[in-house]
Formats: sequence, C-alpha cells, structure tokens
Amino acid sequence: MKHDALLDKLSEFLMVEQCGWQLYRVVGSRATNPELVERYRHFEQETSRHRSILIGLIETLGGDPDYVSPTARVAQAKCEALLQSTLVAGPLSEDELQASDLENVVLAETKDHADWELLGQLAERLPKGKTRSAIEAAVAEVGPQEDEHVQWAQAKLTELDLQAVMTKSPPDPARLDRRVIEPELAIKAVHAAPMDRRNLLDAAKLPPAEPTPASRTAASG
Ligand SMILES: [Fe+2]
Ligand SMILES: [Fe+2]
Repeated sequence: MKHDALLDKLSEFLMVEQCGWQLYRVVGSRATNPELVERYRHFEQETSRHRSILIGLIETLGGDPDYVSPTARVAQAKCEALLQSTLVAGPLSEDELQASDLENVVLAETKDHADWELLGQLAERLPKGKTRSAIEAAVAEVGPQEDEHVQWAQAKLTELDLQAVMTKSPPDPARLDRRVIEPELAIKAVHAAPMDRRNLLDAAKLPPAEPTPASRTAASG
C-alpha cells in the first residue's frame, strides 16, 4: 500500500466531512419539515464526529490533519459550489427549496458514503497490523451511519418530489420575479474553510467572496 497516497485520500475525506457538516448547518437552519429538521440536526452531529474520527485516524497513521492534499482542495472547490447553489433560493417555492436542499444532501452524502466504502474495502485488503486495525475501528463506527445518511436522503427526496408532482398545486408563477441571490443567508457564518484540530479556522468567518487559505494555495500552485 502507498502510505502517502492513503494520507492524501484521508485529507480529502476530511474535507468532504467538513463540507457535509457545513451543508447540514445551512440546510438545517432553514428546513421547516419536522422530519428534515430532526434528521439534519442528528446527521450534523454524526458528521462532526466523523471529522474527529478522521483526524484521529490521520494522526494514528503519522499524518498531519492540517495538511490539505491536492484532491482535498478540489473537494473544497466542489463543496463551495454546492454551498453557493444554496444561495440561488429566491425564486423557489417552499417545497422546491426543501427539495433542493435535500438534493444537495444526497450529492454530498453519496460522496461521503463512497469514501467510507473505500476505507472498508481497503481494510479488508491490508495485512493485519496497526493501519488495518485503525481503519477497521473507524469504519465499524462510521460505516453504518453513512449507510443510513445516504439511504434516508435518497428515499426522502423521492418521497418529497413524488408528493410535489402528484398532489401539490403548482407553485406561484410570481416567484420567478423574486431575487435569485439571498445575501443575508447564514452561509456567511459557515463558509467553507479548512479547520484546525477541533474548530474552524478564522478564514471560516470571511464572507463567501473571500478565498479561503486552501483555495488561495490552489490558485497560486
Ligand atoms: Fe460522514
Ligand atoms: Fe454522511
């Protein structure tokens, strides 16, 4: 196994968890469906725990959790694009907004699930030892939660979209006249940024237009 390649992947997976955590904070802050509110809050807590587990795993394997690998930078760019899409909310009806936010959760959780699936399959192929044991312990806790995240999100999105198509009256056409951008959205407080051992770096408090340290590095590299 290529140890450095694994550490690069773990850096990427940590960024994906960071993205998921930020996304849950945004969509959770404006969800109105009680089931969505409860699930988003629960999954946000579990996703925060996944970040801590990955940080511990990186440290156990001799890596630096503050290192941002090239693929983690790309993951961050994708994350920022996903979060930016949540700003294009003005013309959406209430039901459309809930479904759009849930669709972003499906996208984020599909990648998140794939990451942990990879770690599980990797562990099966490794010889017995410290690396295998550390990955197995992480997957044992996180894997079942990732199954639940993506399965629930996909099923709920199908349910909401079916409801919208089959039973709801058409959204008000006047909604198309409303603003596309909502600058006051809470996204400013949870802008994508790398984090230190436990908390968001100061860059996380910058407005969305400001590049984060990781994206600045990517632009100049
Ligand atoms: Fe996760
Ligand atoms: Fe997840």
